[in-house]
Amino acid sequence: MCGIVGYVGDKESAPILVSGLKKLEYRGYDSAGVAVVGNQVLNVVRSVGKLRNLESRVGAEPPRGTIGIGHTRWATHGRPSDENAHPHTYKGVAVVHNGIIENHLVLKEQLRARGHEFSSETDSEVFAHLIHEELERGADLVEAVRRAVAQIKGTYALAVIWERDPTRIVCTKESSPMVIGLGEGQNFVASDVPALLEHTRDIIFMEEGDLAVLSSGKAEIFNRAGEVVNRPIRKISWTPMMAEKGGHKHFMHKEIWEQPRAVADTIRGRVLLSEGDVYFEGWTLTADQVRALSKVTVLACGTSWHAGLVGRAMIEKLARIPVEVDLASEFRYRDPLVDATQLVVAVSQSGETLDTLAAVREAKARGALAMGICNVMGSALTREADLSVMTNAGPEIGVASTKAFTTQLAAFYLLAVKLGRLRGTLTMQQAQEHLTHLTGIPKLLEAVLRVEPQVKRVAREFMKSQDFLFLGRGAMFPVALEGALKLKEISYIHAEGYAGGEMKHGPIALIDERMPVVVIAPREPKEPYEKILGNIEEVRARGGRVIAIIDEGDQHVKTLADWTIEVPPACALLAPLVATVPLQMLAYHVADMRGTDVDQPRNLAKSVTVE
Ligand code: M6R
Repeated sequence: MCGIVGYVGDKESAPILVSGLKKLEYRGYDSAGVAVVGNQVLNVVRSVGKLRNLESRVGAEPPRGTIGIGHTRWATHGRPSDENAHPHTYKGVAVVHNGIIENHLVLKEQLRARGHEFSSETDSEVFAHLIHEELERGADLVEAVRRAVAQIKGTYALAVIWERDPTRIVCTKESSPMVIGLGEGQNFVASDVPALLEHTRDIIFMEEGDLAVLSSGKAEIFNRAGEVVNRPIRKISWTPMMAEKGGHKHFMHKEIWEQPRAVADTIRGRVLLSEGDVYFEGWTLTADQVRALSKVTVLACGTSWHAGLVGRAMIEKLARIPVEVDLASEFRYRDPLVDATQLVVAVSQSGETLDTLAAVREAKARGALAMGICNVMGSALTREADLSVMTNAGPEIGVASTKAFTTQLAAFYLLAVKLGRLRGTLTMQQAQEHLTHLTGIPKLLEAVLRVEPQVKRVAREFMKSQDFLFLGRGAMFPVALEGALKLKEISYIHAEGYAGGEMKHGPIALIDERMPVVVIAPREPKEPYEKILGNIEEVRARGGRVIAIIDEGDQHVKTLADWTIEVPPACALLAPLVATVPLQMLAYHVADMRGTDVDQPRNLAKSVTVE
């Protein structure tokens, strides 16, 4: 996720900005930059890659001035490059932006028609142009930012400086975090608290729609209605490490809680509801190409492979194309049957997993078209794939994947609708219904986070167990696999995921009073639900203890299971996004109670770049 830092005061701003950006490095980024105003001249220094690249450019020719803004970029629109790095400028206006401008294509077109030329591929640059237009029309900087923001559909944390108004930073936010740091004769703005802690602990958390005007002696905040407001000043006592985790004990916990936002960002700007269609940047496949596909092959490892298994259900149901899901590590050693009639979809959070990359190369060498579903723009996968669908989850730091999984599922659902429309298996109206379900998911994810106290009680009860079994049917089978993987990787408890129908073929032999069995039992679809009730009975009859993840209000399973966790019901293909959350929490709390290293479990690496 991108980082923002801004400074106005009586000191040279560039070193303060760079050191603030360093405090945000843990969030991941692919390029960085600063813009400083001195003597009414805007100076911008940007560089792709690590902050040390920026530092050496700043060191070689230090931009002078006591007001400035800086940014670390995590690419979403446009590859990582010097040109796409922030700050973006237009005729003396400089902006740094976190978030996504959904209507940037339309705005760019309109601006071009009015003679504007763009120097980057980003959506963010639009802000600099819109603001400049308003300044030309006679608005002052504050009013220009207000008017520009009113034309934007999307999310933003935005900080702006203008060389002709060299004493003020104007910043505003909507659905992206932004904080103000108060100092003596100096003020700061940042996307996150850690960037400011070395200078001040007096922090204001901006609220939705707030706009702030910062000068060296004053920080004035206006609400959405333009009224001056007094937001509370909080004394932050967090250590820098606590601040990085946003007050959460572990990154994994923070990332579990980020899922409503992460999934919303994955969907944002892609759902064309009135057309019943999906927009993907860089999409090149024609309806004829999609109709000619003989099958889709999904390649991935670990959690991403589980996402692929859910993705198979989505694509087969909505686009009616046969889908194979292969472990990337197995694929290339079995002389796979791949040809040019196939679409290979490689799924990887990091985009650097060696097995997945090798499988993609193998498939491409045999003529297949390769698509990446990936979270890191500019990673090896996005470079090697013919086209990529980014998941926009923001950097995932905990080794155990959480938000990467749910955003991969959202991306698969969008892909399934897109393919369905191109193949003609979905009418416009059907696609609209599916997309409406999808846009409702972030709200359901917010609601499901509230089950945490219940999950914690279950974790306390079972934290000493030596084994766990997870059962699911249909689209919940991969969720069972994912629940088991999460638990084993961070708590070191032996756990297995099974399809409910497989119970009688072996695992039932394991059931006794020491075996907790987590059963994922949504009421829809009806048949798997009825069958999984049978599984619950089987476990109970053998003394096993059942923890059931059920739809809210399902009284029937409540009478059968020992423990139940109620989640808001969702349509069958999207219910995996919701049902996964309590399983992530269960793994997290069991591990935390056992005192393991949750974010960096033993023997594991975040990105597996070896075979
Ligand atoms: O970066 P990738 O999605 O390609 O990583 C694949 C697996 O290594 C990863 O999902 C791993 O299984 C996680 N630790 C699961 O939490």
